[in-house]
Amino acid sequence: MAPALTQFGQQMSHLTGVRAIMKDIIETLQSEQSAEFINLSAGNPVILPEVEQLWRACTGELLDSSDYGEVVCRYGSSRGYEPLIDAIATDFNQRYKLNLKAENILITPGSQSLYFLAANALGGYTPAGELKEIILPLSPDYTGYGGVALYPEAVRAYRPKLELDRVAHRFKYRPDFSQLTIGDQTGFVLFSRPCNPTGNVLTDEEVTRITSLAANVPVFIDSAYAPPFPALNFTAMTPVLTPNVVHCISLSKAGLPGERVGIAIGDAAVIRVLESFQTNLCIHSSRYGQAIAARAIASGALAEIATTVIRPHYQQKFAVIEATLDDAMPDVPWYLHQAEGSIFAWLWLQDLPMDDQAFYQALKRYGVIIVPGSPFFPGLKDDWPHKHECFRISLTDTAERIEVAIRRLAKLTEEVYSQRAID
Ligand SMILES: Cc1ncc(COP(=O)(O)O)c(C=O)c1O
Repeated sequence: MAPALTQFGQQMSHLTGVRAIMKDIIETLQSEQSAEFINLSAGNPVILPEVEQLWRACTGELLDSSDYGEVVCRYGSSRGYEPLIDAIATDFNQRYKLNLKAENILITPGSQSLYFLAANALGGYTPAGELKEIILPLSPDYTGYGGVALYPEAVRAYRPKLELDRVAHRFKYRPDFSQLTIGDQTGFVLFSRPCNPTGNVLTDEEVTRITSLAANVPVFIDSAYAPPFPALNFTAMTPVLTPNVVHCISLSKAGLPGERVGIAIGDAAVIRVLESFQTNLCIHSSRYGQAIAARAIASGALAEIATTVIRPHYQQKFAVIEATLDDAMPDVPWYLHQAEGSIFAWLWLQDLPMDDQAFYQALKRYGVIIVPGSPFFPGLKDDWPHKHECFRISLTDTAERIEVAIRRLAKLTEEVYSQRAID
């Protein structure tokens, strides 16, 4: 039976952004030649033995404790499991000299759902019919922002400025403050720091400029890769926790994606709105993941393992990509985004003679899967050729396989640019 769908039903039953590509990737990986593919598309973190052991140990403690029944056999508060909220408040208050209380913290089932709550409580149409926009100050950014708004026209992204080092083949995006407009029509501002897909980390100064422009609207800083956990920043950065900032944490890249734990820290009035929305949607987040997270955060073990195990693992993989590209890429205008964090590398092939989707398909014929960049520009209304010249490369495979894959990518790059020379 094909059910008759509402407008929202139609919209939400379509895969958006990178999820549409993921369907093609999954089908490719299920094909007969699947064993031959090197898959550098994954957003799933690597299962690191030390990290798995931390979660196993926390689970053991929970099973042995008298809290077990309270955690899994009962409903709890919509705001979240109290010991996790206490652990976050204590950790952040000590670490960043804050004065957070329980009313400043909300636990959600993963941080993706947090952006859904915000996008539809603060973005979209007001009772007076005015459109409140969700501003992404620097495009490209997390593809998942493209699917969260029930009114997609509310999402507006801005093109960045590009800083190029032609000799070193490196580049970096910067917010273009001459264009960025935040005002009465803005519902909230949203960006990831470090950024998925680019690994860009907006500087403290850039963030402060954005938060000042947005004096009267909330600024959601997606800190899925930020310190203190998972601390996937390769450059020094400090979370900016000024009063209009909602600092959003995900425990997924700290080894817990299956348990769906997201955390919002911010102004009590904003948190209250998100909490009510969440109560209507799902009552509360699952408490098992929250209970093991409470233990790992309160003991300091999560922050510790983030800097001693998680960060170095991905940083070493990035070094392999960098070294292999430097060694193998042909003499064409290619640029790697500065490695400032996340679990991805972002490659720009300027003036690529085909679009990103065609290059992705061609690279599959070399047994390598990467992600075409165009789905990472949600909310960017103008067509910008740059959108079709970029690729996201995941740091989740082994160093050896990454090197083989990058050498094949370099070979294909040489072929497609020299083909254009012949044309
Ligand atoms: C920047 C960013 N934000 C949010 C998410 C969603 O994470 P989760 O819902 O697992 O917390 C991801 C997932 O990859 C991400 O990369």
